[in-house]
Amino acid sequence: MSLQTSSSLDEQKRRVPTAFNRVARRYDLLTGLNPGYRRHLGYSASRLALRDDAKILDLCCGTGLSTAALRDTYPRASLTALDASEGMLLRAQRKRWAGEVRWLLGDAMDPAAAGAEGPYDGILMAYGIRNVADADTCLANLFDLLAPGGTICFHEYSVADSLRSRALWNFVAGAVIIPAGVVTSPGSPIYRYLRRSVVEFDGVKAFESRLRRAGFTEVRTLPMDGWQRGIVHSFLAERPR
Ligand SMILES: C[S@@+](CC[C@H](N)C(=O)[O-])C[C@H]1O[C@@H](n2cnc3c(N)ncnc32)[C@H](O)[C@@H]1O
Repeated sequence: MSLQTSSSLDEQKRRVPTAFNRVARRYDLLTGLNPGYRRHLGYSASRLALRDDAKILDLCCGTGLSTAALRDTYPRASLTALDASEGMLLRAQRKRWAGEVRWLLGDAMDPAAAGAEGPYDGILMAYGIRNVADADTCLANLFDLLAPGGTICFHEYSVADSLRSRALWNFVAGAVIIPAGVVTSPGSPIYRYLRRSVVEFDGVKAFESRLRRAGFTEVRTLPMDGWQRGIVHSFLAERPR
């Protein structure tokens, strides 16, 4: 199955985890070429501002780069990491981990159904919410999994509110990310999907409103540095006590 650019974005989203199986082997190589990718995950991990031994869920963990950011920030945390791509998850599991990580194969739409056992003090979803089939249902399920007073962070692209951000994103995706994807993962449509899904994702204001409608409070958005300023954000929110 492939992600055809002619199919609807919703249809493409259903096939994203399968598409990630095909790029899993080269994923760390490609993201390694992206200046700031790992540093920015570290920003979102530390912006959760959790206790050192917190219980944390990493949703859409991929090859474990976001899990590593959490482990580096919270060395004594109890970590659970979930992804729907077997190929990506296998890559993550094969890495050397300081401390135990519980790995789950499943859909981030409903982590409890995949075995995630809340309540969690913190949840990180890095480059995930844009890909789920129904963002509102996903947020309702995550709200239920978060402990009262717990913090959630969506580390995500959002460019719809700014002409400059949209233009820069389209330029970087077209001139760098898609060509680099062609070289590292020939034949994969995932990087074209990335460009389109980012352009069509909520703007900052719309995503903040979506979080408030789901019941989250203390909603705020913090920027990245480098070329990703205004393009990638930490969307932070809390479940009220
Ligand atoms: C861009 S990668 C990000 C991985 C990691 N969080 C990071 O920051 O490097 C997105 C990941 O989301 C996963 N994914 C996409 N849709 C998903 C879904 N509905 N449920 C679980 N995982 C999903 C993909 O399989 C992929 O591994």
